[in-house]
Amino acid sequence: MKNIAVIFGGRSVEHEVSIITGMQIIENMDKTKYNPIPVYITKDGRFLSGESIKTIVAFKNSDFSQAEEVFFKPYAGDHNLYTIRSKKASILSKESDQVEIFAKIDAVFPAVHGTNGEDGTLQGLLEMVGIPYVGCGVMSAAVGMDKVTMKDVYKSHGIPMTQYTYFYRSDWQNNREEILKEAEKIGYNLFVKPANLGSSIGISKACNREELISAIDIAVSYDSKVVIEKAVENPREINISVLGYEDNLSVSACEEPVSIEKLLTYDEKYISGSKGGSKGMKGQKRKLPADLKEEVEEEIERLAKEGFKSIGASGVARIDFLLDKDKVYLNEINTLPGSISFYLWEPTGLKFSDLITRLIEIAEKKYEARKKNITSYDSQLLNKTSYGAKLQ
Ligand SMILES: Nc1ncnc2c1ncn2[C@@H]1O[C@H](COP(=O)(O)OP(=O)(O)O)[C@@H](O)[C@H]1O
Ligand SMILES: [Mg+2]
Repeated sequence: MKNIAVIFGGRSVEHEVSIITGMQIIENMDKTKYNPIPVYITKDGRFLSGESIKTIVAFKNSDFSQAEEVFFKPYAGDHNLYTIRSKKASILSKESDQVEIFAKIDAVFPAVHGTNGEDGTLQGLLEMVGIPYVGCGVMSAAVGMDKVTMKDVYKSHGIPMTQYTYFYRSDWQNNREEILKEAEKIGYNLFVKPANLGSSIGISKACNREELISAIDIAVSYDSKVVIEKAVENPREINISVLGYEDNLSVSACEEPVSIEKLLTYDEKYISGSKGGSKGMKGQKRKLPADLKEEVEEEIERLAKEGFKSIGASGVARIDFLLDKDKVYLNEINTLPGSISFYLWEPTGLKFSDLITRLIEIAEKKYEARKKNITSYDSQLLNKTSYGAKLQ
């Protein structure tokens, strides 16, 4: 039986969505093969674990009194999760804090959406620990998270996107007029987005200069980097998921989220559509599979694979498209999609539990392949240098 640490929550505006994804993964993990160990990152960044946070009840009541604080040591190859317990060495001695092994972990399943989780930071910690983990590595997670860097990479791969420009908060403070001019060169209507958020937070549509200014003011309050792009008018939104790594990729069914408003808001994505809680993105209204012309669907599948591979993604990702009639634009990649987009795989015959198993197996394969990389090189460099000799 392998111990799989499922990490969820986190310092992100998508904290609550991540709790749902974490719970879904724990619930659906194949218990004949794996023992899920919940690791909840609080909003202020503490890691908590224990049986009491394996179900949603603790989160509904915000009761973590039974949970224990845990941590990894960032030593390569130490796969233990540790905790600190107060202990008395003998009847006579005072209590002292002792570091104890909480659990030995075989692999980690990150389920933290957005900042400090989906952006390469958590992946960086896991690289230092040197443990197999599900999903994207540091670089692909970071590229996928930053809407500007993502677009720049896709542009260099010839992937069709709407025209865009970007700037920093300090540019907005110093060069307002220039930014407005640059944006108006693209032409209304425009979408203004913080570069590094998610769940539609801080995003607005602007149809004139007045709206553009207030949209930018909102976006710069969330992020120091902002992207402005051409709006697709009355687009059809089509999402698809890609699973695998390197050349070994498969694609899911396509979904068409059904929107009441033009822009899917946070509430619409996660609250108004969901019935009975713990559904996450599963609760949203959608057409699945989407009704698409064969050649449009093929184009979406091709671009989805290209979008996945070109940033070096691995595991499972959801790639979102905007359709202007038959013209396909890639909108974004989500390298840790809500509910790990299991519902897009069900029509292909892949069950949620099998998707989780596949992802853990990919993580183990990638880890083994990476271990073969040479990380030391005997150069005799230190024998040849005289730097530091004066200190003797
Ligand atoms: N260029 C665009 N044209 C039309 N609609 C857009 C455009 N960009 C974003 N949207 C709408 O806004 C929503 C949120 O934007 P998105 O880039 O997906 O950000 P997030 O990372 O917050 O999901 C999309 O699902 C879509 O409904
Ligand atoms: Mg989106």
